[in-house]
Amino acid sequence: MARLQGKVALITGGARGQGADEARLFRAEGADVVITDVLEAEGQALAAEIGATFITHDVTSAAAWQGVVDATLAKHGHIDVLVNNAGIFKLGRLLDTSDEDFDRVVAVNQKGVFLGMRAVAPAMCEAKRGSIINISSLAGMEGVAGAFAYATSKWAVRGMTKAAAQELGRFGVRVNSVHPGFIDTVMLTQTQAAVAGKMDKALKLVPMGRMATALEVANLVLFLASDESSYCTNGEYTVDGGLHR
Ligand SMILES: NC(=O)c1ccc[n+]([C@@H]2O[C@H](COP(=O)([O-])OP(=O)(O)OC[C@H]3O[C@@H](n4cnc5c(N)ncnc54)[C@H](O)[C@@H]3O)[C@@H](O)[C@H]2O)c1
Repeated sequence: MARLQGKVALITGGARGQGADEARLFRAEGADVVITDVLEAEGQALAAEIGATFITHDVTSAAAWQGVVDATLAKHGHIDVLVNNAGIFKLGRLLDTSDEDFDRVVAVNQKGVFLGMRAVAPAMCEAKRGSIINISSLAGMEGVAGAFAYATSKWAVRGMTKAAAQELGRFGVRVNSVHPGFIDTVMLTQTQAAVAGKMDKALKLVPMGRMATALEVANLVLFLASDESSYCTNGEYTVDGGLHR
């Protein structure tokens, strides 16, 4: 039996990278999938390939979130899974971070997750079921230097996850955060190019000695989306090859 049969899943930032692999895997496991992203062409192409719905959506907009939830409920009648996956990365130490960079990273990575949870929670609470998976980072679990705004936003995702889990548990809605280490996607490739040479050194710190594929993250997210994790909420799940000690 498919692990997400009968479920409707909404995945933000699903046009490429981890979100795209989650969309593929969720479809293969029987879910109806709604992908959202600011990347329209990539999102449309993936949706057509796997038989999902694509909605152009900037996660920083509360109005856009309402539109996504309304459209999903109109088409499918329920939302069982929300993966708050959309994110941006910005290199920059505390003293080099401009107001604009800080605000932009917080708007996408932090406020986007807040708006997403707030938009889907009413339908999930009414249905008395739901699983919200917030993609944080290892940068949301430990002190990291050189990405001040990003780390700020990812710690906030971890905190918001716990606050929401406390509030929504009695409605049967579970909320968990996922904390990837080094994952082989465009985000990492772009960072790699910006910090030439340093990535090899960083990878030596990973006990498993390599980065992960996006699918290795998607497999964990699938578990949290499915009923196999029915008593898991308020959790923080690393997928990092042992990097977090
Ligand atoms: N790649 C890594 O090593 C790594 C490590 C830890 C955490 N993460 C997190 O994993 C998540 C997925 O990242 P990825 O590795 O697949 O990178 P990615 O850059 O390939 O994917 C991010 C997606 O988010 C979308 N997005 C960006 N801003 C958006 C907005 N305002 N509204 C809607 N969509 C938007 C992008 O268009 C893109 O499709 C992110 O939250 C990221 O912070 C990544």
